[in-house]
Amino acid sequence: MEKTFIMVKPDGVQRNLIGDIVQRFEKKGFKLVAAKLMQISPDLAEEHYGEHKDKPFFGELTGFITSGPVFAMVWEGENVIATARKMMGATNPAESDIGTVRGDFGLTVGKNVIHGSDSPESAEREIGLFFNEEDLLAYNKDQNQWIY
Ligand code: TYD
Ligand code: MG
Repeated sequence: MEKTFIMVKPDGVQRNLIGDIVQRFEKKGFKLVAAKLMQISPDLAEEHYGEHKDKPFFGELTGFITSGPVFAMVWEGENVIATARKMMGATNPAESDIGTVRGDFGLTVGKNVIHGSDSPESAEREIGLFFNEEDLLAYNKDQNQWIY
């Protein structure tokens, strides 16, 4: 089953948005298979955002993403990579639709609350950067078991 890497950025953690964001993915029907609150090192930031290393905003971006804890997650489900990108909204919150994470909570492109992998290749690469194979749990969700 398809997996994607999703991360609540330092602004989202500071603004108490972890719960809301996790809930959106749970309610949509995706399955959380790994999660941790962590501080990103400068090396990991440069690796994770390597595709942007020649962009003018690279220094600001790596400075921001290492500025405080992030909440890193792996979510699983059919078409989760593209669907998560839709749920996040456009990169610039000024252009994100209301109802998306960035559209509802973001104000500036620099601090846009959430990261999500943009392709199967990025998802595999980013999951590998942040998690070990054994961190990804395989389990079934059987909600009927808990309903009386
Ligand atoms: P990008 O990969 O283009 O966006 P997305 O997060 O939607 O995949 O850019 C990575 C991050 O870099 C983006 O979330 C915010 C930051 N960024 C800027 O600060 N300024 C910019 O002009 C752009 C394009 C991105
Ligand atoms: Mg991107």
